Amino acid sequence: MKIDVLLGLQWGDEGKGKIVDVLTPDYDVVARFQGGPNAGHTIEFDGKKFVLHTIPSGVFNPGCINLIGNGVIIDPLILQAEIKKLVQSGIDVTKNLFISRKAHLILPTHRLMDAAQEASKGAAKIGSTLKGIGPTYTDKIARNGIRIGDSCLENFKSRYELQRTRHLKLVKDLDFDYSSYKIDGQDFDAYEKQWLSALEFIKSLQLVDSEYFINEQLAAGKRILAEGAQGTLLDIDFGSYPFVTSSNTTSAGVCSGLGIAPNKVGEVLGIFKAYCTRVGSGPFSTELFDEDGELMRKQGNEFGSTTGRPRRCGWIDLPALKYAVMLNGVTALFMMKADVLDSFERLKLAVAYRYKGEVITHLPFDACTQELEPVYEELPGWKTTLQDMKSANDLPQALQDFIRFIEDYVNVPVKLVSTGPDRLQLIRM
Ligand code: GDP
Ligand code: IMO
Ligand code: MG
Repeated sequence: MKIDVLLGLQWGDEGKGKIVDVLTPDYDVVARFQGGPNAGHTIEFDGKKFVLHTIPSGVFNPGCINLIGNGVIIDPLILQAEIKKLVQSGIDVTKNLFISRKAHLILPTHRLMDAAQEASKGAAKIGSTLKGIGPTYTDKIARNGIRIGDSCLENFKSRYELQRTRHLKLVKDLDFDYSSYKIDGQDFDAYEKQWLSALEFIKSLQLVDSEYFINEQLAAGKRILAEGAQGTLLDIDFGSYPFVTSSNTTSAGVCSGLGIAPNKVGEVLGIFKAYCTRVGSGPFSTELFDEDGELMRKQGNEFGSTTGRPRRCGWIDLPALKYAVMLNGVTALFMMKADVLDSFERLKLAVAYRYKGEVITHLPFDACTQELEPVYEELPGWKTTLQDMKSANDLPQALQDFIRFIEDYVNVPVKLVSTGPDRLQLIRM
């Protein structure tokens, strides 16, 4: 058996949550391998809507095992709140939820550091979700981090105090007045108290040596889906650095974030929107500042699932999509939010960039500082409501042409088209 991977090919929010939920009946285990509560994965069915931050999106299918892998970073208070909300809605999460002992903890002081570092950058800020992601992964790499498993050891308190003191000094050095800063609406001291109590709760859940756990599942013939967070263009190595997140969001992250050998990776399912969005700072060459961009935001309800921030919107960027397909070894594409383009007369697709007087089709090293002017192809819009279409035969010709154009450009077939937020709104090609 091999493990399949589903991940985002753009700047996140492609609709990963929806598709993982849709695919879960075909899998026994769903596992998150990187990122933390900067993620917001939305799932809608039966008129209900859930947003998951740390818990894998397989949780709505009873019987599916959900694993939070070693590559994920966890804020116990956010995870506890997520679990409580699901339990209140009648979903018994804890029975099938397993957490890696090696997953690192986001400490309350990591949240302060994130805020302090962003404030110190001024206009050059990353536009972080302020969930403590950068500082926590920094401490992991610098070998200062504390893992969930460490919190069960006797020396946890002293290690916690040591990091807390060190972090507060760093925050002070950045001239950040944390006494007036609110973490999720609370003063630091109140937040920390609840965080420590939430940690006790998380320790009572099923903690496992997840690399053994997942490889045993594989050996037993179980079908496993790895669920990516963020998107390829936010990858720490291959994204628009420094405007990225702090983990490997690409398929390579599955190996280190779960303890899976590269030859055990099977299908790589890449998902993308029929246009592009981005939250936070960083280059976005096809970004629209006109009524077309406004229409995408309105039709697509493009506001962050984690922070509520309006998402920047623009046309689909095919050189960037092809780059993402190359990096991940994508074997099938899923096109999301096609319905958002229903009312457009004409659709644009970037096929190259003008850069320093040349026309190029790759992403240059200095894409963050040099202007990349998109070169567009234009195709007619389909001007039809897709929301209730059920079969590939129903698809309007203009949409079929749009899909064919993308397939020809990136050389991978589109296997699924999503036509609305609900679980049932999709067309298998
Ligand atoms: P994720 O982070 O990749 O899981 O994506 P998000 O949940 O952050 O953002 C995707 C948003 O689009 C959510 O509000 C989904 O409910 C919604 N969505 C997903 N697929 C579709 C679709 O095909 N059409 C429309 N209109 N909305 C969709
Ligand atoms: P999902 O999994 C979209 C963005 C932030 C910011 C940058 C760094 O829902 O697709 P961080 O908090 O990681 O330090 O922020 O990355 N970002 C996301 N954008 N979707 C996400 O997750 C994101 N997670 C982080 O907006 O620009
Ligand atoms: Mg999201």
